Amino acid sequence: MGCKFWGSMDVVLCCFIALSLVHVSLGAKARHFKWEVEYMYRSPDCLEHIVMGINGQFPGPTIRAKAGDTIVVELTNKLHTEGVVIHWHGIRQLGTPWADGTASISQCAINPGETFKYRFKVDRPGTYFYHGHYGMQRSAGLYGSLIVDVADGEKEPFHYDGELNLLLSDWWHKGVHEQEVGLSSIPFRWIGEPQSLLINGRGQYNCSMAASFSNPAVGQCKFRGNEQCAPQILKVQPNKTYRLRIASTTALASLNLAIQGHTMVVVEADGNHVQPFAVKDLDIYSGESYSVLLRTDQNPSRNYWISIGVRGREPKTRQALTILNYSPTSASKIPTSRPPVTPPWNDYNHSKAFTKSIYALMGSPKPPETSHRRIVLLNTQNRVNGFIKWSINNVSLVLPSTPYLGSIKFGLNHGFDQRSPPDNYDSSYDIMKPAVNQNSTQGSGVYSITLNTTVDVILQNANALAKDMSEIHPWHLHGHDFWVLGYGEGKFEDGDEKRFNLNNPPLRNTAVIFPYGWTALRFVADNPGVWAFHCHIEPHLHMGMGVVFAEGVHRVGQIPREALACGLTGNKHN
Ligand code: C2O
Ligand code: CU
Repeated sequence: MGCKFWGSMDVVLCCFIALSLVHVSLGAKARHFKWEVEYMYRSPDCLEHIVMGINGQFPGPTIRAKAGDTIVVELTNKLHTEGVVIHWHGIRQLGTPWADGTASISQCAINPGETFKYRFKVDRPGTYFYHGHYGMQRSAGLYGSLIVDVADGEKEPFHYDGELNLLLSDWWHKGVHEQEVGLSSIPFRWIGEPQSLLINGRGQYNCSMAASFSNPAVGQCKFRGNEQCAPQILKVQPNKTYRLRIASTTALASLNLAIQGHTMVVVEADGNHVQPFAVKDLDIYSGESYSVLLRTDQNPSRNYWISIGVRGREPKTRQALTILNYSPTSASKIPTSRPPVTPPWNDYNHSKAFTKSIYALMGSPKPPETSHRRIVLLNTQNRVNGFIKWSINNVSLVLPSTPYLGSIKFGLNHGFDQRSPPDNYDSSYDIMKPAVNQNSTQGSGVYSITLNTTVDVILQNANALAKDMSEIHPWHLHGHDFWVLGYGEGKFEDGDEKRFNLNNPPLRNTAVIFPYGWTALRFVADNPGVWAFHCHIEPHLHMGMGVVFAEGVHRVGQIPREALACGLTGNKHN
């Protein structure tokens, strides 16, 4: 569109029209945020402790954007004695690997008093979240939601009238520093099970919400009048369809969510559309997100429990409860029957049935038929100099002081171990028993992956240090989605790849390995950068349960200086 009438009022008008057309057709915006991270007093489960908040909020502010937008977060560290970073979980950071927010990998931790500018594109709609990625700061409460809507003029492949958001987490009364020290002490002190489960940062420790709702004067439930831990009631209109966005940023707990009297139809997993399927309850592991559609087709003169309970570990934590409140029924009307019961914690068949019913929506990108490389990662619990650790192919990850991204880009070859960790483990290893030799090594080596190649990763679970004990581990990959090609029991053997689902495997960024089993993933290494791949259980990562992938780092453009000014690069100028 041209503006020909120079010198007249028409110019202004004509150009105005042109500009607004450009705006409509592109639609993408930059969304700016100024955030300050600090410790603050808070009562997430009605007992007062310190949490990490952002701008005085816990959980942190929700970022809401449209696909194609650029997010700019100027993050100021107001903690007095520790660094901080924030990772944008599920955002692939195409072309901006330095904005991934992983301390020692993509950037230096931001020092107290300093500000770092995260600038990245949210290229795809979906349900995401963000969280601290330094030490165990996620456990300290540093997290929030990141929701990306479809771009203007685009449509989701399903319809809904309204939307509700549930960010799930778990909470300990013991502070995070004490947790960290316990994990790296002899004797080892495990963090134990969480005291509370939180829904949007709110839980009720040691109290029966049902009792309290019916009579706030009795019971130990103190949330009446305490806004910080009062459950967030989900208000709905009858006979509508709601999109429930559910994301889990738990430090440890695998969860199961159910809504009394309602079925849910799963439509999204980790920002990707899935073949819709109906469930009565849904398992969600740390690092995962789902959207489900909920039809409010039940009797509108009553309310319904929403319950969340622990899976995969013997639960010592009460169910978290809130209420689905049908308008115009009063929110304080207690559901007449008991809340849904979480399936038994060790009913793995139930979990597997759910996980294996997730397929990509027709028309989703398919995986390449073959891969260039297979990396088999054996997950074991070990000892290093008497300390208890988690290891991958017998290497327990320790992060270097200089971020890999800068070390690799600028060839600082004493920044980390130059030997790469192995692509496989000793085939005689018996995954059904505790290791014969429990000792493992520590390392900071990376897997160098040739740019644009296809990589298969087989996550192999095994027995932990104690007999007859193998745990769930949800593995999360930064910078990419992967296709989940299959799950198996026992050891992955040559030939098992014949059973891979190459037809409609779901694309995800987090996948679970079940006890004594394996999970097969495939991804295309098409995003230059250095990317963490790790168990999303916070204390497990802290104990070394992760690896680092580097691909095409020579192709990474201008890395902002402040992302790298620490460790060896920082000292260079002294
Ligand atoms: Cu949500 Cu590296 O993690
Ligand atoms: Cu783990």
